[in-house]
Amino acid sequence: DTGETKIMVEAHELLKKFYHHLLVNTKEGQEAFDYLQARGWTREIIDQFEIGYAPDSWDFAVKLLSGRGFSLELMEKAGLIIRKENGGGYFDRFRHRIMFPIHNHHGDAVGFSGRLLGEGQPKYLNSPETPIFHKGKILYNFHQARLHIRKHQEAILLEGFADVVSAVQAGIAHSVATMGTALTEEHARILRRNVDTVIICYDGDASGIEATFRAAELLADAGCHVKIATIPDGLDPDEYIKKYGSDRFRRDIIDASSSLMAFKMMYFRKGKNLQNENDKIRYIEEVLQEISKLSNPIEWDYYLRQLADEFSLSLSALQEQLNRHRNNKI
Ligand code: CTP
Ligand code: MN
Ligand code: MN
Ligand code: MN
Ligand code: MN
Repeated sequence: DTGETKIMVEAHELLKKFYHHLLVNTKEGQEAFDYLQARGWTREIIDQFEIGYAPDSWDFAVKLLSGRGFSLELMEKAGLIIRKENGGGYFDRFRHRIMFPIHNHHGDAVGFSGRLLGEGQPKYLNSPETPIFHKGKILYNFHQARLHIRKHQEAILLEGFADVVSAVQAGIAHSVATMGTALTEEHARILRRNVDTVIICYDGDASGIEATFRAAELLADAGCHVKIATIPDGLDPDEYIKKYGSDRFRRDIIDASSSLMAFKMMYFRKGKNLQNENDKIRYIEEVLQEISKLSNPIEWDYYLRQLADEFSLSLSALQEQLNRHRNNKI
């Protein structure tokens, strides 16, 4: 009920402030603060994202919340603490982790993700699904990015927390993230309600590339104009910015984003030798298959001509083959 959800948000807001305080003002948080600085993040951006530190304690949150009169049963429902298995008491879900508060689209803190200070599993520990936190309905940083998204008439869609923090520090304030690669129809609807064009800039590794296909499909189905920004060498946006700087990220990655079709063509080319007859024919069929999914005849014409030129084929042969694809005969 709404009374309970309001209290859950209050608990998140309170904890968020304590975690942030521990990170930036205390000796306990020094190691975590050093880690964040080593990642290249300034105090200013740490403050902006209200990043915090959950201390290495089993009952920091339990004590803080009960001391402030919060019902521990309700705090368990909010995902902040966990009930001990053998009967009495609760313990903290988040311990010795960098804390990224997650806000709903009004800007209320409704969840956390806690990152390990080093390597290990799980790298990020997230709030579970609760009455106020639904991973599939929230885009990280949407509340801060919304006005920028509207102003730029464009949204930049990234995978993770670190990517958003680094992109925003690099001056790209219209960045949001799916918190992983699982973009949902709800995410797509939220973006579509606010903007025409979405630039997907997922990680440059294999899973990021696979996920780009899926996300692009969902966004296009929702009516978004989709563009794809690809990052070389398997890097993710955060790593690319660290390595090459903000200007190159903007110029060579974001501003150089391609159409979805160009991205697919690039993808189908991978692992093929287009001098080889079989590979070439397979490539052309794969591209035709994609062209056949387009609804705009001007686009068919445009891409057919491109294929015809590149492979010295007659436009009419390609058109005939495209019609077969369109009639589902292939
Ligand atoms: N993620 C998650 N739980 C995990 C791993 C990942 O929720 N165990 C989500 C996080 O939102 C993460 C995003 O998926 O930011 C992308 O994952 P990945 O690329 O593996 O992590 P990075 O964001 O690159 O993390 P970092 O740069 O901090 O190493
Ligand atoms: Mn802006
Ligand atoms: Mn990734
Ligand atoms: Mn990544
Ligand atoms: Mn990363």
